[in-house]
Amino acid sequence: SHFALTKGILAGKQVVITAGPTQEKIDPVRYFTNHSSGKMGYAIAEAAKQQGATVTLISGPTAIEPPEGINIVDVVSAQEMFEQAMNHFSHADIVIKAAAVADYRPRETFSQKRKKQPGEWAIEMERTTDILKTMGENKESQILVGFAAESENVEEYAKKKLQSKNLDLIVANNILASGAGFKGDTNIITIMTKDEQKKEYPLLSKADAANCIIQDIASYIERQNK
Ligand code: CTP
Ligand code: CA
Repeated sequence: SHFALTKGILAGKQVVITAGPTQEKIDPVRYFTNHSSGKMGYAIAEAAKQQGATVTLISGPTAIEPPEGINIVDVVSAQEMFEQAMNHFSHADIVIKAAAVADYRPRETFSQKRKKQPGEWAIEMERTTDILKTMGENKESQILVGFAAESENVEEYAKKKLQSKNLDLIVANNILASGAGFKGDTNIITIMTKDEQKKEYPLLSKADAANCIIQDIASYIERQNK
């Protein structure tokens, strides 16, 4: 009906999205990070909003203007993203983890700039908390959507993540495929679901890919409710 169209397929849903990279501090001038631009996560936030959802976007440092009509929560480190994501988890209907979270952080950070010294410098790294895995272990009725950024064996690794993190959907992409990198405005995605559906999409703009992701989440929810 016209009413359903204007309301959107995610009307009334609370959607929490994470986007961008994290930065892991070494000292006041240096940090570890990755190539994530945040574009995919921001595009998903926009698509979810257009479909009527109430959207919270937990964002690592990006160069993107904050979109209108979305609650933005800015974070820097994986630990901050973990804390904010868990705060918003309990009242979320759908969580989409597009962020490229650092897997490791320096074990030690320095409050003063570290001066160079003769010889080499080795930085010891420790693991960060896996946010998505923690959510998977604690999920109640939330729909959990993960990403799998792979450079080889894309579907095999993505399927493992879908299962090991207790996800409902996973969006896999080969970060080495042309047009599918972290930085660009396009992506090539494959979406796999817990109920064993698989869709391979062609090269799409990140805006179109975001709409496909939102459509596939809505279809998945509809199948669950049958
Ligand atoms: N993820 C997370 N917290 C982390 C690391 C990853 O929530 N500390 C999430 C990402 O946001 C993504 C999914 O887990 O949705 C998969 O991230 P990815 O880096 O592809 O997989 P990892 O499980 O970290 O495994 P690896 O990097 O070894 O492939
Ligand atoms: Ca990782």
